[in-house]
Amino acid sequence: MSKNLSELSGRKGLTDNLFEKLGTMAKGNGSPGVKEMEQLAEAFLVGKANVYGSATFYDFTRPENQGKKVYVCNGSACMCAGTQAVVEQKLKETFAEEEIGVMCCLGRCHENSAFHYQGNNYSGDDIKNIKTILDKPERRIEDYHVEAIGTPVLTEVFPGLDAFYAPLKSWLGSDSASLLEEIRTSNIRGRGGAGFPMAIKLETCRNQDSKTKFIVCNADEGDPGAYSDRYLLEQRPHSVLLGMIMAGYVTGASWGVLYIRAEYPEAIDIVEKELEKLYAAGLVGENILGTKFSFDFKVIHAQGAYICGEETALLSSIEGQRPEVRVRPPFPAQQGLFNKPTVVNNVETLAALPWILSHGGQAYAELGTERSKGTKLVSLDGHFNRPGMYEVEMGTPLRKVIDELGQGFRHEVKAMHIGGPLGGLVPVSKIDDLTVDFESFSKNGFLLGHASVVCIPQDFPLVKYIEHLFEFTAHESCGKCFPCRLGSVRGAEMLDKAQHDGYKIDRTLFDDLVETLEKGSLCALGGGLPLPVKNALQYFNEELSPYFK
Ligand SMILES: Cc1cc2nc3c(=O)[nH]c(=O)nc-3n(C[C@H](O)[C@H](O)[C@H](O)COP(=O)(O)O)c2cc1C
Ligand code: SF4
Repeated sequence: MSKNLSELSGRKGLTDNLFEKLGTMAKGNGSPGVKEMEQLAEAFLVGKANVYGSATFYDFTRPENQGKKVYVCNGSACMCAGTQAVVEQKLKETFAEEEIGVMCCLGRCHENSAFHYQGNNYSGDDIKNIKTILDKPERRIEDYHVEAIGTPVLTEVFPGLDAFYAPLKSWLGSDSASLLEEIRTSNIRGRGGAGFPMAIKLETCRNQDSKTKFIVCNADEGDPGAYSDRYLLEQRPHSVLLGMIMAGYVTGASWGVLYIRAEYPEAIDIVEKELEKLYAAGLVGENILGTKFSFDFKVIHAQGAYICGEETALLSSIEGQRPEVRVRPPFPAQQGLFNKPTVVNNVETLAALPWILSHGGQAYAELGTERSKGTKLVSLDGHFNRPGMYEVEMGTPLRKVIDELGQGFRHEVKAMHIGGPLGGLVPVSKIDDLTVDFESFSKNGFLLGHASVVCIPQDFPLVKYIEHLFEFTAHESCGKCFPCRLGSVRGAEMLDKAQHDGYKIDRTLFDDLVETLEKGSLCALGGGLPLPVKNALQYFNEELSPYFK
């Protein structure tokens, strides 16, 4: 990343935003024109190559996106459900092939058959009513089962705006250091995958000497199979927004930025509407409720790039730079957005803050296990008898989640991909060894990640699934390091040839490739891909060995 470009982009701040302008320009025909990009470069005093480099990076601003009218979800859950060929076939009755694009993933993993048309997502039986949808595109927020076992921290019933924000005035009148202590006592760890203690991040940012600081909510939930952040943004947006306000108060930040993925148009609209209500009620903005604390919000509409979920790529993205992962240190809490101290937290992490401050850090710390505190949302896909969103206390047996909450598999399943594309591939034989918490998963050679569950049916070839993971990484790689940029492509090629050309993969070469990815990648995209691949080779050796020499 270029510090200089961060400064230049920061001159205009958040209100006049380079990245946002690129997105708006692309709305017309799917990609900004060369002239428009040149004007933008001039206005922001950055090079033309910088603007072009950014515009060509994202799924929804790159020239290949021009002329696309409808998008089919190509995420792992829809792929394993085998629903997308029918969706595509149906769409081809109306659209030319070149008008049909792909999106990954729409977060409709509980009912599959997902597609996107004119700013709305559709899934389940919607494709059967395609004629009606084309005549009159209408928003349908789909229904799915939501349940908590034990204490509902995140799925608690919303009591209405007034009741929910009732404690705000007293919180903003209290000592921010004591609020930070409550968060430290709660021992909450980040839910975006890495499990980093939230209090340390907030404290680091708080200790920086800077007039400008930011709280960034990472709402780029790109893990196919995960829709828990979408659930919170759409159904519990105020938990997230109040969490951000309080994170701002604790750190001394005066801006909250929500970076929400383009594949969640309903979530963007809902959050924007709820923010309008907060401004109208004087619950955000200048001197909130007559206190000395001011806090403003900005919603950034992302443009389709999985890597923007990685926190430093996300910051570059907001700045309008090509979203390449940054080397740390400095950490974002020291030098983040526009080079200012920035806390980046996941939606679910921020959404837990109001509960922690209302009930006290100790009450939260009493939930969960010794090292994984609180509750976790688990997203179950369409292979379960009762797919949906489940909130469980950390430490809950995985068996309970699968058999009691999900009510078992609809048909025979051989493995579950848990925690997104970089999570582990858990064979069903390991279910009884696992509990839903960070330690149990890592001790057993897996990763809890964001706790999404994508099932791999018995008859779905694992070689095809691993190829899909290599292809996903190849498409989403930011390109900064060779092992990820090239290795992902070479891996996908080998697996493709092995399935179609009678080619046998040299196992030593393949292991070498996987090891290079693991050791030589800067971030957990290239570095994390080896985990599910190694799990597959370990647990499904018999199925995979015919493809190797
Ligand atoms: C390739 C990649 C994708 C990621 N995607 C997300 C994401 O979609 N949402 C998220 O919150 N964190 C994601 N992360 C993790 C973030 O970099 C970061 O750790 C997180 O936003 C911090 O928030 P937390 O401490 O609340 O978990 C991703 C990391 C990598 C390497
Ligand atoms: S591992 Fe891949 S995504 Fe991560 S920094 Fe390297 S090239 Fe970029």
